[in-house]
Amino acid sequence: MKWLANWVMSRRSKQLLVRVAHRLPESGNIADIGSGTGHNAEAIRRLGKHHLREFDVADLHWVGPGPELISSSRIPVDDQVFDGLIMFFVLQYPMFPEELLRECRRVSRGPLLIIQSTYQGRLGRTLLAIREFFWGRFALRLASLAGLVHPDHDSLQPRHSFTRPELQNLFSRVGLVVVEVVPGEWWRLGVSRDLFILQPEPGAL
Ligand SMILES: C[S@@+](CC[C@H](N)C(=O)[O-])C[C@H]1O[C@@H](n2cnc3c(N)ncnc32)[C@H](O)[C@@H]1O
Repeated sequence: MKWLANWVMSRRSKQLLVRVAHRLPESGNIADIGSGTGHNAEAIRRLGKHHLREFDVADLHWVGPGPELISSSRIPVDDQVFDGLIMFFVLQYPMFPEELLRECRRVSRGPLLIIQSTYQGRLGRTLLAIREFFWGRFALRLASLAGLVHPDHDSLQPRHSFTRPELQNLFSRVGLVVVEVVPGEWWRLGVSRDLFILQPEPGAL
């Protein structure tokens, strides 16, 4: 069971890395916000060019050094200390995603690479909710049965779902410029794992 879970997560992190590796800064300090199991940060560490720091509201790691624990509205570092930031599949969880995004903008002087599932239409919204359940609380349950994590928190309770324009609006409200959107359609069923490449708006701190 542990082996299988590890295989699934390692494969997933390799696929995510293919989407973002060439968009990361050449080198430097990268923050992974909502780092989860730690597989994505480990995949980037293995490139050998970046120093990764992981942050999360809960410790769900089973590879790597684990996250620094944060509250949802405060990342405890100085302004612009990171050369880039990744945040994958997190924005559906915080009560106030805007606050978390403002913090992301504050701490990074380089690109913010955000992957977030978006939906189109009623079918897309329903399918996204089902996906969220399986990749969120159901996966957490399996991981805890396998003894990989302790499920003593509610950090995987989804509170929001977004369409692509809603997210783009959210980004611009917090002073993030959308440089590029790379859709990742899921079987043309109204769900897309969108990659947003964002830059902090100059002077928006
Ligand atoms: C679906 S998991 C994704 C984990 C990882 N980014 C990945 O793609 O494998 C969502 C993660 O977001 C974290 N999270 C939830 N609310 C958060 C918040 N307000 N700030 C930071 N992380 C949060 C959860 O604890 C969990 O680790």
